[in-house]
Amino acid sequence: MRHLLSAGDLTRDEALLILDTARELAQVGERSVKKLPTLRGRTVVNLFYEDSTRTRISFEAAAKRMSADVINFSARGSSVSKGESLKDTALTLQAMGADGVVIRHSASGAARRLAEWVDGAVVNAGDGTHEHPTQALLDAFTMRERMGRLEGLRVAVVGDIRHSRVARSNVLLLNTLGAEVTLVAPPTLLPVSVDAWPCEVSYDFDEVLPKSDVVMMLRVQAERMNASFFPSAREYSRRYGLTAERFARMADHAIVMHPGPMIRGMEISAEVADSARSTVVEQVTNGVSVRMAVLYLLLGGAIQGPGHQGETR
Ligand code: CP
Repeated sequence: MRHLLSAGDLTRDEALLILDTARELAQVGERSVKKLPTLRGRTVVNLFYEDSTRTRISFEAAAKRMSADVINFSARGSSVSKGESLKDTALTLQAMGADGVVIRHSASGAARRLAEWVDGAVVNAGDGTHEHPTQALLDAFTMRERMGRLEGLRVAVVGDIRHSRVARSNVLLLNTLGAEVTLVAPPTLLPVSVDAWPCEVSYDFDEVLPKSDVVMMLRVQAERMNASFFPSAREYSRRYGLTAERFARMADHAIVMHPGPMIRGMEISAEVADSARSTVVEQVTNGVSVRMAVLYLLLGGAIQGPGHQGETR
């Protein structure tokens, strides 16, 4: 594995290696000194052309916990505003010796293009409506920690599938790992190509809900909508929101997930989001471990394994 561009590029063994490595590296986050020397001397550039809270911060935390030098690049305030292209920005990073580039971009396919221009490892941190592979990996990690398995797990992914890179990456990865995914959305919020995705599709949340082990709610991505995809927020919430009433009809063992940012009161009620069966905060914590594992495996790490408890600084 040279880059991480799509969850669909990962074999089952590669995906499990990332999850197992993340589990070992999670122990670093529980120590008083949260630092390993593993990536000392390596440079990771976070190249963010789109807004982010969780992904940007957790990639930065992940790289710093392994002692990498981190350069944060935000398109706002850079020469992008003067018309500089992604390619010229990439070549500038290349000239500065980036060993790894983490990119978020509004254009689907931007990460793959970048990988053609730089020598370092490229990690896709979200490209348009296409993919967000580290989100799918942290979601799979969270499911496995909470439910003890992924094989045969019934996962409902609910909401704005059409504009969701999280949904596509989750479907591809969970299929590789043996889980059964059902996408739940109004017909207008499903992508045209959904028939080719390795999952089931339903328009009826109430029918799918009680049969699900995991209910993953997605944000309605208003910023990507150039038309009206449902009559009103209230109508959307009535058919597809995870309200307290629906939450009460979930299986007792089932968990609720959300990649964030959440629109409380629309796709998920505040009491469901804050309940003990919601993994929203755990997903953020696990995101750091999973991104540490991805950077560790892509950038080669040090001679010692990730469990090495030696030198810290
Ligand atoms: N889940 C996720 O990608 O969140 P951010 O947009 O805040 O990074």
